Amino acid sequence: MTLTSSIPVKRTTQSRLSTVDFSNLGFGNYISDHMLVAKYDKGTWQDPQIIPYGDLMMSPAMLSLHYGQAVFEGMKAFHMKDGGINVFRVERHHKRLNRSLERMCMPAISEELFVNGLEAIVKTDADWIPKDNGSSLYLRPVVFASEAKLGVKVADQYLFVILTSPVGPYFSKPVRLKVELDYVRAAEGGTGFAKCAGNYGGAFYPTQQAREQGFDQVIWTDAKEHKYIDESGAMNIMFVLDNKLVTPALSSSILDGVTRNTIITLAKDMGVTVEERKISIEEIEKSFKNKTLTEAFGAGTAAVVSPIATININGMDYHLPEVKADSFQLRVKNKLGEIRSGAAPDTYNWNHVIK
Ligand code: COI
Repeated sequence: MTLTSSIPVKRTTQSRLSTVDFSNLGFGNYISDHMLVAKYDKGTWQDPQIIPYGDLMMSPAMLSLHYGQAVFEGMKAFHMKDGGINVFRVERHHKRLNRSLERMCMPAISEELFVNGLEAIVKTDADWIPKDNGSSLYLRPVVFASEAKLGVKVADQYLFVILTSPVGPYFSKPVRLKVELDYVRAAEGGTGFAKCAGNYGGAFYPTQQAREQGFDQVIWTDAKEHKYIDESGAMNIMFVLDNKLVTPALSSSILDGVTRNTIITLAKDMGVTVEERKISIEEIEKSFKNKTLTEAFGAGTAAVVSPIATININGMDYHLPEVKADSFQLRVKNKLGEIRSGAAPDTYNWNHVIK
């Protein structure tokens, strides 16, 4: 079958679009009118359909609830200057989804199902795409085991769902982060590189503690020694150190962020030296003290480029200078925005344009 034209759409008779406050979206507060749903059974993904967003019938014995087979992606759709709709870096998100699925013994999603499913759901709820600069339609593909069984096993039945949500900026101001020296997000050889639900659930407790202490998120350190930086809660972390862009090298405990990759690529084009390597807490502390650390920011699909105001190391607050108009993070964020909107050439074919 060719999915593009054939995904059936059952439209809602009661759109909730008029209830959305587009001037005050926040992140994840609204879910659009429709969702895409496909079932996996008997070794194959069945034809998807688009139906009104709402509850699904599910068994409390479904395996994802008990043994954690649940994986998701986060992507964004934007309006372009010429009226087209752009879903950014579809191919890379698809590849990452399948890497996550493989790690969790879950069935791969074909490119056809992924791309055509995204196109269909975005077209169906195109009116939900915000128009303001800095806002977008967040796309949340999620795959989870739906088979009802208590036996500890790899499931034979799954659901693939795509939800969409009009969102504004993830953080409303520069963030305060605490270097986490007790708890661990992921160890080498574990599932840290995969976008599986458990990575987020396990992060809540230390993050809640950090919030109670006045921080927005934590910076995770390596599981063996708590010596090297891995990533931050919902984003990869990047530093401008000695005028170079420095970020932790990817490993099995770090998410291979799509925005991370985009920024590294653009930085090189801008003539900035990029170092992907181990970064110790000690190095960051020293570079604060000798003022060679001039910028720190988070990079992620939801976070985009989020300035860091403060990093707390061992109880000591270190403050970053205010972000200036000529800072690297602002320049690269603007460049990214121009590519996504079609104002700058899309040299790397990152835009997936829906006419
Ligand atoms: C994203 O950036 O898309 C994420 O998935 C991070 C967070 C919102 C869960």
